Amino acid sequence: MKKVEAIIHAYKIEEVKLALVNVGIIGMTISELKGFGNQKGVTTRYRGNEYKVEFASKIKVEVVVDDEQVDYIVQQISLAARTGEIGDGKIFVRPINNVIRIRTSEQGVAAM
Ligand SMILES: Nc1ncnc2c1ncn2[C@@H]1O[C@H](COP(=O)(O)OP(=O)(O)OP(=O)(O)O)[C@@H](O)[C@H]1O
Ligand SMILES: [Mg+2]
Repeated sequence: MKKVEAIIHAYKIEEVKLALVNVGIIGMTISELKGFGNQKGVTTRYRGNEYKVEFASKIKVEVVVDDEQVDYIVQQISLAARTGEIGDGKIFVRPINNVIRIRTSEQGVAAM
């Protein structure tokens, strides 16, 4: 199992959600966060000090999927989240050791 973590534009969340629901994803978690990437935001001045790093509001989508689904899910998220401009976001793929459904104590793929 892998967790696909995508940090995307907040205004893209509905499109990404629909894309994932349409390919049969059965659970996902989202959260609001702030971050910056390669461009480090714009340089601004505040009370004489120069700030080189500006955080931007983003949304993180987390989906745990079977190993074989990872490439397809990454592709679906990319297609839905891409504008082609800088700041479209980034996807991180991480290994997941186990999943436990609390209600039934099912584990692993059965608990997803
Ligand atoms: N190396 C990183 N580590 C952790 N989070 C990152 C990293 N790079 C980007 N992020 C997160 O992803 C968000 C979007 O990044 P962004 O799309 O600007 O990446 P980028 O590498 O600058 O690509 P682009 O050139 O397309 O803008 C950031 O606001 C930050 O939250
Ligand atoms: Mg960037």
